[in-house]
Amino acid sequence: MRKLLLAGNWKMNKNVAESVELAQTLVEKLKGITDKDILICPTFTALSEVSKVIKGTNIALGAQNMYFEKNGAFTGEISPDMLKSAGCSHVILGHSERRQIFNETDEMVNKKALLALEEGLIPVVCIGETLEQREAGEALGVVETQLRGSLNNIVGDDILKVIVAYEPVWAIGTGKTATPVEAEEVHAYIRKIFSDIFGSKNAEIIRILYGGSVKPDNSAELMGQKDIDGALIGGAALKAEAFEQIIKVAK
Ligand code: PGA
Repeated sequence: MRKLLLAGNWKMNKNVAESVELAQTLVEKLKGITDKDILICPTFTALSEVSKVIKGTNIALGAQNMYFEKNGAFTGEISPDMLKSAGCSHVILGHSERRQIFNETDEMVNKKALLALEEGLIPVVCIGETLEQREAGEALGVVETQLRGSLNNIVGDDILKVIVAYEPVWAIGTGKTATPVEAEEVHAYIRKIFSDIFGSKNAEIIRILYGGSVKPDNSAELMGQKDIDGALIGGAALKAEAFEQIIKVAK
């Protein structure tokens, strides 16, 4: 049985004080939940302070991005070691906003994933098609290309540490959610491709999250799908009550 993972992506929201306040509220509201994994991903500047708040609780800490070099002259970038020293265990990679606004390619996401694994961080690798691609009937092909490209050259047991997040771009922040059937179709396909590359045993273990307008009222049905192993939540993760509800109704 794959344990559900509910992850909050706070994006470029909340300063340090606001992040600490939200984290403190979540610690209270979510304590005692052990049958699901919980992850929050605040912005870089809040990581250290939030990590102090959630230390020793059932909430893990992730960053929203990192660079694919260990250190050096890369002004404005953040290394995996810096994230670890700020208390992170996870890092979101290749979010569609990074791909679309900052031109990240599968090759870059792959370099980041390889370095994250080498440095002991768990990568949450995001893939997903645009509305145009879906309407052109290309959704599965796009997702397959992104999956293969982003996970290239990951060998051995490292692949079991990877978390995949399927986030149809047209469903992110739009209030439009993929129906459970639409989402499950792509999730099952991702698991099949994963099985082709890394073997069926590994494909049964790996977790595939759904992301895109997950809310308290659609969480249960989405999370109830066979190949959906959790969610990456944006907007609703900024409100403690909504995040709590999404987690509590997920089965
Ligand atoms: P959303 O964002 O829940 O606000 O649609 C999801 C994401 O981008 O991770």
